[in-house]
Amino acid sequence: MPDDSGSRRAGVTDANFVIEQNARHVWHPMTDPKASAKEPPLIIAEADGVHIKDIDGNEFLDCAAGLWNVNVGHNRPEIKKAIADQLDKVAYYATFGNTSNPPSISLSARLTEMLAPEGMVRVMFSSGGSDAVETALKLARQFWKLEGRGTKTKIFSLKNGYHGVHFGGMSASGNPLWRLAYEPLLQGFHQVEGPYLYRNPFTDDHEELGELCAQLLAREIENQGAETVAAFIAEPIQGAGGLIVPPPNFWPRLREVCDQYDILFIADEIVTGFGRTGTLFGSRHWGVKPDIMCFAKGINSGYVPLGATAVNARVAAAWERDHPLAAIMHGYTYSGHPVACAAALANLDIVESEDLTGNARKQGAYFLEGLETIRDRFPSVGDVRGCGLMLGIEFVRDKATKEPYPPNDPFCLEVQRVCREQGAMLRIQGNKMIISPPLVFRREHVDTALGAITTALETVDGR
Ligand SMILES: Cc1ncc(COP(=O)(O)O)c(C=O)c1O
Repeated sequence: MPDDSGSRRAGVTDANFVIEQNARHVWHPMTDPKASAKEPPLIIAEADGVHIKDIDGNEFLDCAAGLWNVNVGHNRPEIKKAIADQLDKVAYYATFGNTSNPPSISLSARLTEMLAPEGMVRVMFSSGGSDAVETALKLARQFWKLEGRGTKTKIFSLKNGYHGVHFGGMSASGNPLWRLAYEPLLQGFHQVEGPYLYRNPFTDDHEELGELCAQLLAREIENQGAETVAAFIAEPIQGAGGLIVPPPNFWPRLREVCDQYDILFIADEIVTGFGRTGTLFGSRHWGVKPDIMCFAKGINSGYVPLGATAVNARVAAAWERDHPLAAIMHGYTYSGHPVACAAALANLDIVESEDLTGNARKQGAYFLEGLETIRDRFPSVGDVRGCGLMLGIEFVRDKATKEPYPPNDPFCLEVQRVCREQGAMLRIQGNKMIISPPLVFRREHVDTALGAITTALETVDGR
């Protein structure tokens, strides 16, 4: 192994040294280490607004907002000031048991106020999305034990759903890609069909598909026995599983099914929360009030890791009873981290004062129109879809048969590479391009992104 101690001692920070250190020491999430050795990651060293710069000084328009989380854009002085001010006061104090800190209390009040239409009354903080889901699943099981109906333990979810990487969330996630290497999964997790309009064996009618999927959920609950089911979890719009927007009837029907069988409805709003889809919360598109809601990402635009799980009055009431299992034996060292919560408060000020929800709706509609033109023009674009600034392209090898590109086919990565050459950072996942820019995107940014995608397809499509 080459000796790098000399260069480290000399404080060398040149790009090659950093790239070499990365290759030698770092394993990257969701990637085969051999793939990142072959195709080293872009190392982002600076960012401002909607632009990012790599370690070699190349600048890109950030059409991914990091991992669909930097909603207010990079390098916002308001958030940096809130973080610095909080660091001057107290960088960390725990919220376990009988201590707390002011920013976590203020943020819980702010969130319950924002979530008043959904009837949320309590918040438990965590360190990210997977944690927030885990909190929701555990609280759902505990709820039924406190209610004296401890047989209700199973968790239902949708195929193609993504609920993070912990054992609970992974067991609820509906794509074998995320699970196979880590099986066996937890017992009592079951996925049913979701309304994936572009690929389903049932119907081309979106509403009919929504109704059918709701009925399939009801049938599966009946088959297993409602007295065994604790909760149903779903994303208002499926993200990582393929940007699947349900028909308007689907969520209201899911709520009805959950009510019919007395099952808690958990909304995983980790991507859809705080404006990304053009409503403040994704559930509001469908006029549905969940029992439990999970948040992360856009809660503070990723400036410091933070997750949150909110529960409504019915759920919270179970903890008012005297019960031997009433203690919440769950929580993280960083639950309610004061710096993360201070960042969130500043972030939510920006989301509201700049109406980023309205901007996501406006720019998203314009973006989708452009994508539809692209779909009509290029044979490799099977489908384009999305809502607000949560958009995607599904690439196919054959438009007529919808044959997808197989995993690891170089086509999609080639599209991504040419987009980068054009100065646009876009994310590829399997045979899909995920488009999720900061919510401060303006029309000219959308035009630049559409131009880069068009050039990439002109270059790669039909090769
Ligand atoms: C819907 C959904 N739930 C949960 C998670 C997990 O969040 P995290 O990566 O912060 O653990 C994600 C991450 O993308 C997500 O999209």
